[in-house]
Amino acid sequence: MFDFRYFTPTKVIFGKDTELQAAKLIREFGGNKVLIHYGGGSVIRSGLMKRVTDVLDDAGIEYVMLGGAVPNPRLGLVYEGIELCKKEKVDFLLAVGGGSAIDSAKAIGYGVANEGDVWDFYDYKRKAEACLPLGVILTIAATGSEMSDSSVITKEEGLVKRGYSSDFGRAKFAIMKPELTMTLPDYQTACGCADIMMHTMERYFTNGGNMELTDAIAEGLLRTVMKNALILVKEPKNYDARAEVMWAGSLSHNGLTGCGNDGGDWMTHKLEHELGGLYDVAHGAGLTAVWGSWARYVYKDCLPRFKRFAVNVMNVSASGTDEEIALTGIEAMEAFYRKIKMPTNLKELGVDATDEDLVEMAHKCAVGVSGSMGSARLLYEEDMLAIYRMSRG
Ligand code: NZQ
Ligand code: ZN
Repeated sequence: MFDFRYFTPTKVIFGKDTELQAAKLIREFGGNKVLIHYGGGSVIRSGLMKRVTDVLDDAGIEYVMLGGAVPNPRLGLVYEGIELCKKEKVDFLLAVGGGSAIDSAKAIGYGVANEGDVWDFYDYKRKAEACLPLGVILTIAATGSEMSDSSVITKEEGLVKRGYSSDFGRAKFAIMKPELTMTLPDYQTACGCADIMMHTMERYFTNGGNMELTDAIAEGLLRTVMKNALILVKEPKNYDARAEVMWAGSLSHNGLTGCGNDGGDWMTHKLEHELGGLYDVAHGAGLTAVWGSWARYVYKDCLPRFKRFAVNVMNVSASGTDEEIALTGIEAMEAFYRKIKMPTNLKELGVDATDEDLVEMAHKCAVGVSGSMGSARLLYEEDMLAIYRMSRG
């Protein structure tokens, strides 16, 4: 078991009508002039934005608005947001939406609170020393960005998608109202469930230090998300299923399911980030499209974990050799992805990549991880390329 540091400063307000507490919470954390940042307009169409701006108006809190954060949010809008905040003397950010709006808001917060080009942080050139305070009203259970220290931004030039992690960027509060996710397209609900599971699986498949309690939490979380994801395929308006998945999304990426291990593997995410950068695919779908290939490539080097996963999470019978059990577990995971209509290879993802594209992605991926990465198995550029090739379908 490894030593660990667990820091989750985000105040969570979970349940019905919780968006009505936005003004009170902004005041509590010292906000006087707010930038409300959102995506392509779902929050306006659902009526959520009107309810939020009404409570801010009633409380006399001033605000400016900036929409347009797209899935795989772009650096250009981040620069625009930074300028707007400086011009309007904004002292608090309110992200209303999913991971894209939240991540874009975090980047704006870094850009306002630090000198120089904000991309430097995502390009690993220097570290942020502050961030504007941020609050979140979450509308999709997926990335866990509402409690995580991460922000993922795509630079238009070269389509480079990179993440930056810092405790300064953690939200001061997160308002989570499960009903808000009922307007999601089924595809986005499934993408979210896939992403939530992957944040725990990345931490679970390691060769470095494991902790019984963490494993039990991780396995319980994975079983819960799978059960409720299947309920949501048939009953998208099932409140309890929405609530279970929403809370799982936050716990899966706030550090809890990694306590005591070496930090996790994370290669599936890195492989996806190149797909998202180049083909603009939904993050959760990109993850499931490569996971099976990654798993088959690495499982022999991390056999006890793959076996445990098969038995404890995928309910595979423990008879047969360890390798057989592990492979059956991988197949069962892919069967689950198909049940929630997630892709299990690039073809099903709708990506028709040439070998040149795969070579380019593997190269960018290797550069993005400074040469090599992975705990289930340490992977280099040639391994990344081999996995992309396996995932073609
Ligand atoms: O943009 P709008 O109009 O709001 O529509 C969004 C978008 O089209 C829609 N949507 C969201 N809530 C809705 C809704 N539609 C109807 N009703 C609602 N209640 O869903 C689509 C996807 O939204 P987005 O915010 O892009 O989804 P997600 O939360 O999955 O975020 C994805 C981004 O987060 C990054 C991903 O790489 C990707 O760029 N990640 C961020 C992480 C983090 N900060 O910790 C970790 C993750 O691993 C991930 O990399
Ligand atoms: Zn993710």
